[in-house]
Amino acid sequence: GESGDLAGRRFLISAGGTHEALDPVRFLGNRSTGRQGVALAAAAARRGADVTLLAANVAADVTQDLPEGVEVVPVVSARDLHTAVLDRLADVDVLIMAAAVADYRPESQAEHKHKKTGDDGLTLRLVQNPDILKAAVAAKRDGQVIVGFAAETGDESTDALTHGKQKAARKGADLLAINEVGVDRGFGDTPNYVTVVRPDGNVVTEGGGSKADVAGVLLDSIASELS
Ligand code: C5P
Repeated sequence: GESGDLAGRRFLISAGGTHEALDPVRFLGNRSTGRQGVALAAAAARRGADVTLLAANVAADVTQDLPEGVEVVPVVSARDLHTAVLDRLADVDVLIMAAAVADYRPESQAEHKHKKTGDDGLTLRLVQNPDILKAAVAAKRDGQVIVGFAAETGDESTDALTHGKQKAARKGADLLAINEVGVDRGFGDTPNYVTVVRPDGNVVTEGGGSKADVAGVLLDSIASELS
């Protein structure tokens, strides 16, 4: 787009969930649909940004309504996404990591399908994937805005927001959108309510409703970081 408050800004947005191959036909994955990342890409493009979407296993019906001009780059695994992000990071103003990235992958990928070997079960060895958001923060240059997402639940001792603030400090992203999941927050049907915090835990803003509303809240914060 040419006009809008994000005109001329270059956005790199990851969406979906990574697949970590076990063998040629099987993978470890997660349930992320990519809809939040796609909503962010669509909203940023409508506000004038130049958007590249790194789509990790996002179904075609989820990306089909993206505005023209959004570049969609498919990726599969966390390591693919890591390479794709670091290759492009220097060229963008904003990175938003909305993808659900597998923390672990199988240590080795079998060349052939795993076969049933009897009644003893099968043990998989997993190794850690790179933390892409942390790597991006480490590589960040002045003026760039790096944004993460955190889906958090509370437990007996600590509420979701506190967990999210601890993650914000660990990750060091300029903004972290904390999404409290798995609880009725009492806002009616607002499955996508986010609190946006800085690494020091200060709350920048909060709000939500639909995924498009969340995108609007987050892009407003990003726009004011950029200006
Ligand atoms: O899974 P976690 O809660 O740590 O994810 C928080 C943020 O970190 C998300 O923005 C996610 O995209 C990002 N992440 C990442 N690389 C990983 C794990 C998570 O960039 N290996």
